[in-house]
Amino acid sequence: MAKSNVTYSCSACGASFSKWSGRCDACGEWNTISEDTGLSAGPSSKGLGAQRGKTVALTDLSTEEAPPPRTESKVAELDRVLGGGLVPASAILVGGDPGIGKSTLLLQAAARFARKGLKTIYVSGEEASAQVRMRAQRLGLADAPVQLAADTNLRNILTTLEAEAPGLAIIDSIQTMWLDTVDSAPGSVSQVRSAAHELTTFAKRKGISVILVGHVTKEGQIAGPRVVEHMVDTVLYFEGERGHQFRILRAVKNRFGPADEIGVFEMTGKGLAEVTNPSALFLSERGEPSPGSVVFAGIEGTRPVLCEMQALVAPSPHSQARRTVVGWDGGRLAMILAVLEARCGIPFAGLDVYLNVAGGMKISEPAADLAVAAALLSAREDAALPADTVVFGEISLSGALRPAPQTENRLKEAQKLGFSSAIAPKGGKAQGAPGMTLKRFSELTGFVGDVFGAG
Ligand code: TYD
Ligand code: MG
Repeated sequence: MAKSNVTYSCSACGASFSKWSGRCDACGEWNTISEDTGLSAGPSSKGLGAQRGKTVALTDLSTEEAPPPRTESKVAELDRVLGGGLVPASAILVGGDPGIGKSTLLLQAAARFARKGLKTIYVSGEEASAQVRMRAQRLGLADAPVQLAADTNLRNILTTLEAEAPGLAIIDSIQTMWLDTVDSAPGSVSQVRSAAHELTTFAKRKGISVILVGHVTKEGQIAGPRVVEHMVDTVLYFEGERGHQFRILRAVKNRFGPADEIGVFEMTGKGLAEVTNPSALFLSERGEPSPGSVVFAGIEGTRPVLCEMQALVAPSPHSQARRTVVGWDGGRLAMILAVLEARCGIPFAGLDVYLNVAGGMKISEPAADLAVAAALLSAREDAALPADTVVFGEISLSGALRPAPQTENRLKEAQKLGFSSAIAPKGGKAQGAPGMTLKRFSELTGFVGDVFGAG
């Protein structure tokens, strides 16, 4: 009997398995594993009859040659996330939840790039060209020199791109594209993977930049953008909370610039508007100083961003107290609570703890530890921190405070927004900013004793 070659892969993360199971071992998602169908057998290694390629000695490559110029959209928030503009022949993935604003963002970007003289084609697999045009009209971009195409057959799209030879092609979305050589439904892992592979290799060969839109999916039938992350040069995620008016474009991977860079946009009736001073926006809803609210001076990529950490601590009616986090890591919260208990003798047992990063911002920096600890203590003790104070610093398991990078930038941003004092770890080489009072501690116990008179 012939050996079966059936493989299974996860539509959320793309991991392959030889057996089906209900839960993906790689990413932990449920019901995302399905059979791979239609993948043609790879080239046989027996017949090495292919053409010989060329190699170039590293030393032969001239360094005088300037890198190809990037095209700037002049939307500073977008250019920064791309690492300083669009690199020719690069492949970019823009992922995000359905309805978050990806199509709007990219149509606006297409108009910008087209007006800068870069020939731009916007291929929609979800909307007819007339619908895209209506959207453009709503955004005030009806006169932008963008070419539109509505198609899902990748063969046709590649032929169109070959003939038109644009500088930038936007594919909205990669999950709607299908190849006739792959024998499975559009949106399946093998279709999405093959389509992305065709598009990125085509782009490199022809010197066209491509932007692929990928919906983050919750159900198992449609492959998510993570499946193609490794094929592209740059991975951007467009995030934000429904009900909040602003959106964050975050570089998760970038071969041509720093990762972790963010661009902040505000949703308006006329599309996305740049937010050049995000700290002011994130703090705009802050009222009088209240217990549980602490301003964290953070760094996102190369830019300082202030935001408010809110904590609520209340006696728990349940046998197992609740720990709920929005915008931060739940594991990290558990760690801070454990350190407060073990090193400072402040128990949270029997208390429900809620932590929220205001405004829908997501924070992953360890330097937020001290701000979180301060918010938790402030909520627990029902004592507000002075309104003019920002907090930052990493907490280690021993209860020691570790200096955070870019202390000076954080302080300068805080000062710019009217704060006059900061609580930070000792150490590091930063001097502080003139006009800012700096309180520095080397241990969490020292901070707790000084600021809350306990510990
Ligand atoms: P859309 O760009 O279609 O989201 P996605 O492509 O990620 O699925 O945007 C969703 C809806 O939000 C759409 O009806 C337009 C609306 N919207 C605005 O009104 N203003 C904005 O600034 C944005 C980004 C979206
Ligand atoms: Mg869309």
